[in-house]
Amino acid sequence: MIYAANFKTNHTRESTKNYLKELQFHLHHKKSEDRIFIFPPLTALDNYSGDFTIGVQNAYPVNNGAFTGEVGMEQLLEFNINTILIGHSERRDILNESQIDVAKKFAFFKEQNFEIIYCIGEPLEIREQGLTAVMEHLLAQFEGIDTTYNKLIVAYEPIWAIGTGRSATIEEIASTHTALKQSVNKPLLYGGSVKGTNIAEISAIDNVDGVLVGGASLKTETFLELVLH
Ligand code: 13P
Repeated sequence: MIYAANFKTNHTRESTKNYLKELQFHLHHKKSEDRIFIFPPLTALDNYSGDFTIGVQNAYPVNNGAFTGEVGMEQLLEFNINTILIGHSERRDILNESQIDVAKKFAFFKEQNFEIIYCIGEPLEIREQGLTAVMEHLLAQFEGIDTTYNKLIVAYEPIWAIGTGRSATIEEIASTHTALKQSVNKPLLYGGSVKGTNIAEISAIDNVDGVLVGGASLKTETFLELVLH
């Protein structure tokens, strides 16, 4: 299983350092085949080491240049970062990243040989129309994306399940993941209100290869409840 923690706009440099220290202390209990990813805010990047991979939640697809407020490869390499989240619904919807922007970012970081966790997800009104509509929506989010890339991990995160406490049902996750795997045969994470009380049933679903976690990843205790369940 893959356990990925997306801190979003939470934690500081100091609290991230403490978090990782405490996490590492418990990680010798994890299964050896499990992989842990942590995506802290950019200001918390440092040269951490442990049984986890640090990635970034976002970056701009350039080496360097005049892109006020953005961070490119030159800044990421200082911290040996080679993992990125691309296409998160918060970036698509709040920061207005278009499919073209997302695809450009994907192509750039693929060229840099980054491991990419590529996020897709549908809004509630599409889910209410049923699986066919959901799949049409999700597959459109692969436009311009090389789904054969060997360092691609896909994360299915229904937007209505993110931060709402309401995870998708087991049946919804199972049918969506099965359909997605037929189109894109890559490791496939589920995200959306994953927590200690639902990790056992979610991780047992066929074609769920891991989870991408927001709220329940913010404290080491609640994240470890998932990793060590
Ligand atoms: P929550 O776990 O808070 O629902 O967030 C999921 C998410 O968006 C992870 O990227």
